[in-house]
Amino acid sequence: MRKPRSIAPAKGRLAVLVPGLGAVATTLIAGVEAVKRGMGKPIGSLTQMGTVRLGKRTEKRAPLIRELVPIAALEDVRFGAWDPFPDDAYASATHASVLDHALLEQLRVPLSAVRPMPAVFSPEYVRRLDGPNVKKAPSKLELGEALREDIRRFVRENDCARAVMVWCASTEVYLEPSAVHAELGRFEKAMAASDPAIAPSMIYAWAALKEGVAFANGAPNLTVDIPALQQLARKQGVPLAGKDFKTGQTMMKTVLAPMLKARLLALNGWFSTNILGNRDGEVLDDPGSFKTKAVSKLSALQYILQPELYPDLYGHFDHQVHIEYYKPRGDNKEGWDNVDIEGWLGYPMQIKVNFLCRDSILAAPVALDVALFLDLAQRAGMSGIQEWLSFYFKSPMVAEGLYPEHDLFIQLTKLKNTLRHLAGEELITHLGLDYYEP
Ligand SMILES: NC(=O)c1ccc[n+]([C@@H]2O[C@H](COP(=O)([O-])OP(=O)(O)OC[C@H]3O[C@@H](n4cnc5c(N)ncnc54)[C@H](O)[C@@H]3O)[C@@H](O)[C@H]2O)c1
Repeated sequence: MRKPRSIAPAKGRLAVLVPGLGAVATTLIAGVEAVKRGMGKPIGSLTQMGTVRLGKRTEKRAPLIRELVPIAALEDVRFGAWDPFPDDAYASATHASVLDHALLEQLRVPLSAVRPMPAVFSPEYVRRLDGPNVKKAPSKLELGEALREDIRRFVRENDCARAVMVWCASTEVYLEPSAVHAELGRFEKAMAASDPAIAPSMIYAWAALKEGVAFANGAPNLTVDIPALQQLARKQGVPLAGKDFKTGQTMMKTVLAPMLKARLLALNGWFSTNILGNRDGEVLDDPGSFKTKAVSKLSALQYILQPELYPDLYGHFDHQVHIEYYKPRGDNKEGWDNVDIEGWLGYPMQIKVNFLCRDSILAAPVALDVALFLDLAQRAGMSGIQEWLSFYFKSPMVAEGLYPEHDLFIQLTKLKNTLRHLAGEELITHLGLDYYEP
């Protein structure tokens, strides 16, 4: 056994602060309240139901993750939120209609208590929305200071010992990294000058990091994918994770594509389309926000298939991703994938995937795990990009010069080995020769 890393205990309450009190956030909050009352199971959550194998297979040691490392208890979590719409979590969850009315009625009291703080919001960055519950200040820097004050007040009033922030708000319009994002000093000057290159999500992230609060990005916005905020995270000793929760079609893609590559089956084309009718779908119907999402969804195949290593197999495939806003489906998204592949001697085959999923039902446990693992990382003294949380993201953040790992099972191995490492257990390589060779 190696030396375990010193990790502060998960003592006291944890504030989970979410910009965006929409479908994902309310499904997360209602789900946690339901699980606490024994009204449902936290299906899909590694922190609540996952185990880790330790040692050799013959040892039969497989504790729950939350027994191996100190994870905050759901009873200790307090949710805070910001949203430009003033609806509380009960009203917003009712509007999102992800969860049954009967379940929401039973949770009316705790959900009504989560009222959104005024948001830092501008329709320039999310063109399909506008709401009245918005902060006003002379500059983006002062908006950031107002968010810092919100964080401090929330933590104080709810008697929390620690806090994390998880962006569950809408996808912002596409932004390219520019000079103002390259360095913290320039970034803060740009905030003071209300430069348009500073998006609302960046102001939340800046406020969180300044307060020593870990930040994760559940949407594909640029947000913390910029050197300035990564410098701030390192300076403050705060962990970061992102971006864009990996839930439906991309999760499927990052399972199927590694299979094609493992068996060296060639790919000619991958056509993906979706219909969804929730508010997220409405926001993504705007070309500015769609571009941000499309860039995030398109990257996985290139990285997994490595066309530069296998030009004959993956040098020329056509990859298309379409999202159609179709109101009748609400949050119950349907995705279709048509995959044109080739086998031995170039003979063509096809794979069809039709995933009738529920967007926020898949996203809520991801958001919960990200919040609880970020808090663990912070207590373990880890700061900056947490690549071991790539498992949860469509566009995993990585250190400069590294390519992101998209294969879901490599990501899971990385996550579990990180937990073994933190606990001082041997890492598992799956070599296994020692079972056969003396
Ligand atoms: N499976 C999934 O559901 C999934 C997967 C990956 C990413 N995401 C992303 O998660 C985010 C949330 O998804 P959703 O379905 O809950 O969307 P939603 O539209 O139901 O909720 C988003 C909420 O954010 C609010 N908002 C927008 N800008 C804000 C700001 N600047 N500050 C505070 N609040 C703001 C909106 O008013 C809205 O209530 C979206 O960006 C979506 O693309 C979702």
